[in-house]
Parts: sequence; structure tokens; C-alpha cells
Amino acid sequence: MTQAHQVTIHFADGVSRTFAAGSGENILEAAIKAEVPVLYQCKAGACASCTCKLAEGEAVTIPGASSTLLASEYAEGNRLLCVTKAESDCSFNVAYGSEVGSSVAQEVKVFIDSVERIAPNVMRLTVELAEGNWLEFRSGQFMQITVPGLGVLRSYSPSSTSLTLPKMEFLVRLLPNGAMSTFLENEAQVDQVLTMKGPYGAFFLREEHRRAPHIFVAGGTGLAPILSMIDGLRQASGKKPPMLLSFGCAVPEALFALDDMELRQHWLPTLKTRICVDRHATEGLHEGSPVSALKEGDVTDPNTVAYLCGPQPMIDAATRRLIELGMKPELIFAEQFVASN
Ligand code: FES
Repeated sequence: MTQAHQVTIHFADGVSRTFAAGSGENILEAAIKAEVPVLYQCKAGACASCTCKLAEGEAVTIPGASSTLLASEYAEGNRLLCVTKAESDCSFNVAYGSEVGSSVAQEVKVFIDSVERIAPNVMRLTVELAEGNWLEFRSGQFMQITVPGLGVLRSYSPSSTSLTLPKMEFLVRLLPNGAMSTFLENEAQVDQVLTMKGPYGAFFLREEHRRAPHIFVAGGTGLAPILSMIDGLRQASGKKPPMLLSFGCAVPEALFALDDMELRQHWLPTLKTRICVDRHATEGLHEGSPVSALKEGDVTDPNTVAYLCGPQPMIDAATRRLIELGMKPELIFAEQFVASN
């Protein structure tokens, strides 16, 4: 008979839930069975939605399972619940409250409102939920959209917030021969119906840090969830925190959504922006990565919170730089975007 271990998940809001998991059993599956509200998406060790930190006991990666965790992250106690088994009674901390994972992903139909190219390799897609369909999401989370005709799924974070529902906006990076890219460039029609499922992901605006200074670092279309977060802060009641957005693209021609950022600065006097290009900077642009634009003096409050979205090397560099500038690692939240072709 398989020996069962007691597994406890401690949520950031102080709620803890304990359930049994067999010694060889995938902990995520055991948590789902026990209706413990943990976040997950791929169930295959690939998306990092189910990341948690081992607090007590022994829990290891299931032999043969693949995991995107670095050896150093694993050594620090990070685990992906979907590819982890308990070797003893154990407990884990997750960085979100117990109410977050309870928003179950919904499958909905949406109509295309518009498709607009806003940079050589970026499209703005706006959609509207079909009547009778509804979902809720947190700024920063992502949706999966099925590419019509191909049936493949692509993940995008809305640049809009849940307050604009039933309308939603996405910024889609165009990839040569990409499934969604080809669809948007050649086939998408206004009023066409798309299937969308979500929300997913553990990258979202942390309400509990709403009043602390915020630093946002975005590369390319990693700007989408960040715009949603800035709007989330704008729409929340009360005094707005100081915010710094460092956003970068390769060259000036690749930049996009500059009007959106200008408008937000107009609405939010506490928001500062640094727009960066890797090369050929023109007046008013910082030459270098959005990480190189972070300076001494940007972190003056120990409770500063940061949100990073872009390619993994940018996230790693930004994390190192922010810690060097005085930030607490646990207040840095990040989402890597991965191109799927
Ligand atoms: S659910 Fe995607 S890594 Fe675990």
C-alpha cells in the first residue's frame, strides 16, 4: 500500500490547507483532488504557475519529469507542484492568497472588435466577450486563445483590466510563420468568434503592496500585463504610489504603445517612464536595456515592489540589479514570456 504523507500549503493571506498525498503521487493532483486553491496551468513543469517554496520536510521532483526550475532555484527550496512528490510530511509556502487560486479558469467565446498593427512586429487585438459569457482576472494574469483552424493555444496577458470587461485588449508579438501571427495578419475578421480560456498564472498585482512604491520593467510585449497593472493601481481607490516604468525594445522603430504610456502619465502624476532602445537611440530615449536604465536612488523605500515581464535574461538581470539597489527578493515578481512557434 502506498504510504500517504500530509502536505500543507501556506497561502500568503495566512490561510493554510492540509491534504494527503501518496508517496509517489503528484502533489498538484492531490491538491486539486482535495480542492485546495493552488495555481497551475500546464501541469507539465513548463509554465512555473505552480511554483512554491518548500518550508519543511522532503519533496523532490518526480524522476523523469521535466522542470524549468534552475538547479540553484531548486536548491533554494523552490518546487513546481505539478512535478513534485512528497517524501515525508511536508509544507510549502505560496506567494499568493488563498482567494486567488479559487478563480477557476473559464472557457468563453469572444468577438474580435479590431486588429491593428502598432509596430512592425506587434498587433493590438481587441475583443469583446460574447453575451452570456463572463470571466474575472487579475492584472498580470494571462489567457489562452485558440488559433482558429489550427486548434493550437497561445497565451497572452490582457493589457486591459477587468474593469473594462466585456472588452479586452491584447498586444501580440508577431513571429515569422507563428500560428497566431499568421492568423492575425492574414485571416482575422472583425466579429469573428475566438475561443479563450483563463485566467492563468501567478503573476498579478499584489493588492497587499498597493501603497508601496512600484517599479515595472518590461521588454517588448511584456509591456501588456504591466499596462494592466498600472491601470489596476490607477483604478484602485486612495492615494497612488510612486511608480517607475522602464520599458525597452531593440530599436526606436520597434517601440509601441508610447501614447498609452503618455496618457497614463497624464492621469497618474506619480508615474515616471524610461523608454529604452538597445541601439540607435533618438532624443528622449535611453540607449541600453530597460535594466541598464535602473539607477542608484530608484529604490528608496525597503518595501518597494517590482514586477518584471519579458525575456528570461532581462528578468534575471533586472532581479540582480534591483537587489543590488536595495530591494527585497521576495518583493520582486516576474513573468517570463516564451515565444511559441
Ligand atoms: S502547472 Fe505549469 S509548471 Fe506546474
